[in-house]
Amino acid sequence: MCNAVRVPFFPRRHGCHADPARRGRHDRCTLAGDCVRFLAGDFARTAAAQDVGGNERARRYWDSCAEAYDRNALIAGPTYQPILHRLLRDVGEEDFVLEVAAGTGLLTAPLARRAKRVVGTDFSPGMLAVAQRRLAAYPNVEVLGADAADLPFPSRSYDVVVCSHALHVMASPEIAVREFRRVLRTGGRVIAITLLDGEMSPASLVKNVLSFLPRFGCPPCRRTLQLEGLAELVRSGGLEVEQAVIVAREPIPTGYVRARKAQ
Ligand SMILES: C[S@@+](CC[C@H](N)C(=O)[O-])C[C@H]1O[C@@H](n2cnc3c(N)ncnc32)[C@H](O)[C@@H]1O
Repeated sequence: MCNAVRVPFFPRRHGCHADPARRGRHDRCTLAGDCVRFLAGDFARTAAAQDVGGNERARRYWDSCAEAYDRNALIAGPTYQPILHRLLRDVGEEDFVLEVAAGTGLLTAPLARRAKRVVGTDFSPGMLAVAQRRLAAYPNVEVLGADAADLPFPSRSYDVVVCSHALHVMASPEIAVREFRRVLRTGGRVIAITLLDGEMSPASLVKNVLSFLPRFGCPPCRRTLQLEGLAELVRSGGLEVEQAVIVAREPIPTGYVRARKAQ
């Protein structure tokens, strides 16, 4: 299984967000509409979840962000260092790690240098293609396409499940967390990290909306979380929360929750 990069099951699409000339051709790409949807995150998520094609729209959105993602993720760059600092303490050398919604593999690479084996999954072929390029040199990494709500792994097969900056944009994060628990061995850990725009001051929220939306647009599924909401989401999947902290405040408050599968 090691060093295999299984390219996923969905056809490749090309997006518009990275290319200003192409912005505005999709109904989801108008900045004003995105601002409204961003600021009304929970409402937008509900509306998207009712959309039968919600997951497909979300996948297309992430495909369209893929090639520009690393460059634009630098806006949140200062949050990745404190995330990594904690993450690498919480993952051991003998661990078999699943990273769900791994995106372009920004965290997968340092995880691979730390852990015994890492499987990175995502449902966007575009994101996975970038991850594949980044991770090709790591013999202990496998990258594959999978929906977080339906993981293609046997129960109790991992020591650690990591999910970074993704639960807040999933259509069904509660189902995903139950899947995390299912694939963990007893005593295994979930590490859930996400930006918490519910913890932002109004001024900071406006500043971030103006930084992010022109580059990415707003994902079709998203919810506004505070730290307690993230911890509660993890608890609702039957996991015992051991630690819930805000690891960075700027430019975006970022929550880090570590939880254990007790039995
Ligand atoms: C903001 S990016 C985060 C990527 C990476 N984890 C990081 O920290 O840079 C969100 C990722 O979640 C993925 N995603 C969203 N919903 C998903 C789902 N239901 N199943 C699998 N991946 C999903 C997207 O394709 C995207 O790559």
